[in-house]
Amino acid sequence: MAILGIDIGGSGIKGAPVDTNTGTLLAERIRVETPQPATPEAVANGVVEIARHFKWEGSIGCGYPGVVKHGRTLSAANVDAGWVNLDAEHLLTQKTGCRVTLINDADAAGLAEMRFGAGMNNPNPVMMLTIGTGIGAALFVNGHLVPNLELGHLIIRGKDAEDRASDRIRLEKELNWRQWAKRFNEYLAYLDLLFSPDLYILGGGVSKRFDKYKEFLQANAEIVPAKMLNEAGIIGAAMNAVEHETH
Ligand code: BGC
Repeated sequence: MAILGIDIGGSGIKGAPVDTNTGTLLAERIRVETPQPATPEAVANGVVEIARHFKWEGSIGCGYPGVVKHGRTLSAANVDAGWVNLDAEHLLTQKTGCRVTLINDADAAGLAEMRFGAGMNNPNPVMMLTIGTGIGAALFVNGHLVPNLELGHLIIRGKDAEDRASDRIRLEKELNWRQWAKRFNEYLAYLDLLFSPDLYILGGGVSKRFDKYKEFLQANAEIVPAKMLNEAGIIGAAMNAVEHETH
C-alpha cells in the first residue's frame, strides 16, 4: 500500500511516499525546515507543503516528537506548547484534506526497524533510540511496542537525558564523538539498569555517522545503527497509518 510518511522533527519535517509492504520509499524524500516557533498551524503548513509536493490525495501517516494518544498530542518538548492536548490528527486531516494518522516519532521508527530493519524477527527486548533534537525511545518485547515511553526525559546528573546526550547538545557544545559517546554511555547504563534490553537500535541523524563513534559505545547489550537510518521514522509513520485503516 502506498502511504505518504511524514516525520515532524524539532529541526526538519521530512516526508516521502512509502510502500508499506516492503518498507521502501517510492520517491526521494523531501525536507522542509521546521518553522520556529513550531506552532500547530505553522507545522501543519509544512505538512501541507510536503503533501502538495507529492500531489498526495491518499492517506498520510505522521510521526510527532511527543506523546500521542488517540490522535491527540499530549506533550511538546521540542515544539511549541500549543500542541499540548490538541486534536492534532483532526487539525492535520483538515489542513491536508487527506486522512492523517499520528504516532510518536520514536515509536514509528521502531515499528519500521522491527519489521524491515535491524530488529527484524527479534523476539527479545529491543530498545529503539532516536537521537536528534531530543532523544526518543521505543521498547519492543516479542515484537510488540510499548508506546509513548518518553525515556529521553530520564534525569541524569540533574538534567533530562536529552539535554545531556542528544545530537543537538553534541553540536551546541561542540563535543567530539568520544566526548559525546561518554555522555551517551551514561544514558545507556541507566537504560540497562531499568530495562535490560538485548539490543539497542540507534536511529535519527547520528545513525549515519555510526562509524565515527561505535568504538566508544558501551552497554550490556548489542548496539547497532538503524538499517533505515533517518528514514525509519517516515517509513514507520506510514506503516502505522495502514494499521489504522485495516482495524
Ligand atoms: C519527546 C519524545 C520524542 C523525542 C524524539 C522528546 O523530547 O518527548 O516524545 O520521541 O523527543 O523526538
